Amino acid sequence: MKIIVTGGGGFLGSRVIRALLAQSGVPAFDGIVSVDLAPCPVEDPRVTSLTGDIADPAFARRVVGPDTAGVIHLAAVLSGQSEQDFDLGMRVNVDGTRALLEAARATGHAPRFVFASSVAVFGGEMPEVVPDSMAVLPSSSYGAEKAIGELLVNDYSRKGFIDGRACRLPTIVVRPGKPNSAASSFASGIIREPLAGVPANCPVPPETRMWLASPDVVVTNLVHAIAVDGARIGSWRTLNLPGICVTVADMLASLERVGGAAARKLVSLEPEQRIIDIVCSWPGDFDVTRTLALGFTRDGDFDAVVRQYKDEFVR
Ligand SMILES: NC(=O)c1ccc[n+]([C@@H]2O[C@H](COP(=O)([O-])OP(=O)(O)OC[C@H]3O[C@@H](n4cnc5c(N)ncnc54)[C@H](O)[C@@H]3O)[C@@H](O)[C@H]2O)c1
Repeated sequence: MKIIVTGGGGFLGSRVIRALLAQSGVPAFDGIVSVDLAPCPVEDPRVTSLTGDIADPAFARRVVGPDTAGVIHLAAVLSGQSEQDFDLGMRVNVDGTRALLEAARATGHAPRFVFASSVAVFGGEMPEVVPDSMAVLPSSSYGAEKAIGELLVNDYSRKGFIDGRACRLPTIVVRPGKPNSAASSFASGIIREPLAGVPANCPVPPETRMWLASPDVVVTNLVHAIAVDGARIGSWRTLNLPGICVTVADMLASLERVGGAAARKLVSLEPEQRIIDIVCSWPGDFDVTRTLALGFTRDGDFDAVVRQYKDEFVR
């Protein structure tokens, strides 16, 4: 039986594949199939890399079949690009998700199905700490597409077509490499670039609260999401994954403590309305009693997140 990882050529997908290979395996699997427009960078005899478009229903049916033990669906068009190209975002994030759910349904054995959602489903007026029952009110096409995906995962689970888990990921910081098309890309940039001696701009006000998790914690939680018993989750299959609530000013203070005053001086604070409109509509703190009780984890504090990145990636 195989685990399918869509987005296996991407940042989280390739890390999830490595983490799955390193653990003993619930559900049991004898191979992993990466499905992405890009080839999977993980070289391992247990990994097969299939390239193609998940929004093509024939391709989705070819990759999810009777030997599918579970699906971790990470392939997506990210927030900035979904806002700029409405048709592409809808096609990949909505039609692609539906195509995979239909392929999973057609297996007839209700495979586990993890869907990567996002805090971008929220917007409008929110309490300081967002409860589990908070209604979604997206302020971007990406957020709307993720909210549609969550509802589909819940209804396909209610019907018994899949055993679904829609995980709302916090913003992931510090993401190594280059800036990406996510509106929140700056959150990694304001740490990563100065630690490499390169200037960076912070486009949102310093008091902006963000809900953050390190890549290691998110990967651990996505692997846990496919392992956790569906009966423990209950009928509502959407999960606010744990994060830590940090203001941008706190993030810059951590940068200074871990990277020094010279690194902090490399960050400018020029507002960018396009980014403010999206990122400042997202909640900064959640009640995660339920997901912590289900065994999901979170980072200790933001200094530790910056230190983890510095120790691993800064020479
Ligand atoms: N990184 C974050 O902070 C964050 C936060 C919340 C949610 N998420 C979600 O987590 C998931 C993974 O994000 P990531 O940071 O690894 O992004 P990423 O861009 O590195 O990976 C996404 C992958 O999807 C692939 N893809 C795009 N369109 C495709 C298509 N039509 N068919 C097949 N593959 C396609 C891309 O080639 C890419 O490799 C996404 O669903 C994203 O929305 C990420």
